Amino acid sequence: MTESLTVRDNRTGTEYEVPIVDGTIRAADIGKIKAGEDQPGLAVYDPGFVNTASCRSSITYIDGDKGILEYRGYPIEQLAASSSFLEVAYLLIHGELPTKEQYDTWVHNITYHTFVHENVKDFMQGFRYDAHPMGMLMASVGALSTFYPESRNISDADNRAIQIIRMIAKMPTLGAWSFRHAQGKPYVYPDNDLSYTANFLSMLFKMTEVKYQPDERLVKALDTLLILHADHEQNASTNAVRSVGSTQVDPYSAVSAGVAALFGPLHGGANEAVLRMLKRIGNASEIPAFIEGVKNGNERLMGFGHRVYKSYDPRAKLIKKAAEDVFEVTGTSPLLDIALELEKIALEDEYFVKRKLYPNVDFYSGLIYEALEFPPEFFTVLFAIGRTPGWLAQWLELTQDKDQKIARPKQIYTGERGLTFTPASERWA
Ligand code: ACO
Repeated sequence: MTESLTVRDNRTGTEYEVPIVDGTIRAADIGKIKAGEDQPGLAVYDPGFVNTASCRSSITYIDGDKGILEYRGYPIEQLAASSSFLEVAYLLIHGELPTKEQYDTWVHNITYHTFVHENVKDFMQGFRYDAHPMGMLMASVGALSTFYPESRNISDADNRAIQIIRMIAKMPTLGAWSFRHAQGKPYVYPDNDLSYTANFLSMLFKMTEVKYQPDERLVKALDTLLILHADHEQNASTNAVRSVGSTQVDPYSAVSAGVAALFGPLHGGANEAVLRMLKRIGNASEIPAFIEGVKNGNERLMGFGHRVYKSYDPRAKLIKKAAEDVFEVTGTSPLLDIALELEKIALEDEYFVKRKLYPNVDFYSGLIYEALEFPPEFFTVLFAIGRTPGWLAQWLELTQDKDQKIARPKQIYTGERGLTFTPASERWA
């Protein structure tokens, strides 16, 4: 039996049968409801898309109430424990786990596309000495579209595949160079003998040594963080990638829009904000006053709350564990003690309990990044590198989805109408 909704328009008395498919109704069916033949169809007002599905997707499953996150059906906990970032990237893009041969080819291809054209280095060096690395990443990934003009041919599967490999390969290079730039240090070229994540650390931290050999425990922790950030279905930045990608622009331009969205403090910028907040609190004795301020609406407890998770963010649990591993290598931080105490108090406080506000992925990630000696401005770049396979998997899905159209929402117009324009020369006379 087809499920449906019977809607009675009390303006006209007409009844409509609206089919329910996959727990949703089609906005286009609502558009058929009209107060009169010459009247506009009924529309749905949903700022921030809080209850609107924009696509059908088989990439990431989230159950926000139960705290479940799965990539292509595999629980995040298992992937974080036993997979690698590049394997997860393959899974997200291709939809299934690779065979040994497929994995080796994938890793080989990504490893050998880590270099960028020397012109990229030149223009990156043109940024102001203190340019925010996210601004540099956003611009440089977008600029790759000028190096690969064929990337505009998005209807060709082979062409899409090579651009995906290039982007996953080059993001750490662009990210690391934006980091070195702000420090006034020479850019380090990729080392293709190293793993994806070890090479990234090499490009970030190598100085005069002939070969940079990062601590394997730190490589593992960073690789886990990248896995945890790899996709999160229709979040703000993925929506930006899909929305811009729906114009059929090249994937570099679409991903650059994703980087822009991630830059915002309510999205990827939150971990930077968490760290600044912890530093400002400074001491566990200041926590009660800080919490009072949050409850009075003066500010938000950064790293808490999520549009989808109404229980503990599963990634936050795994990140808390990764933080312990990192602190074993680097030594603990007084900010961790403040974070733990803040979490404990907030989880017991009625304000947070009632609103189902729990730690999200950003609550502990900033602490790990600081222990790894990344400046706060760089945290979001790490997030962007992790999210790149997710953005690309979503973009790829979009390009093959027959239901998709150019993203073009409606509005409720609230302005003036039909005014008569008086030229400036008369108005100012
Ligand atoms: N601190 C204090 N109160 C909060 C917080 C918070 N962090 N988050 C939500 N609330 C309160 C709101 O004030 C609101 O209260 P009210 O009902 O009395 O008005 C209620 O909880 C619901 O909040 P909304 O803003 O409606 O929830 P929304 O789903 O729109 O926002 C968001 C989600 C943006 C993540 C929000 O929780 C927030 O701003 N958190 C802090 C920033 C943060 O950590 N962002 C990272 C998100 S994860 C990511 O992007 C990777």
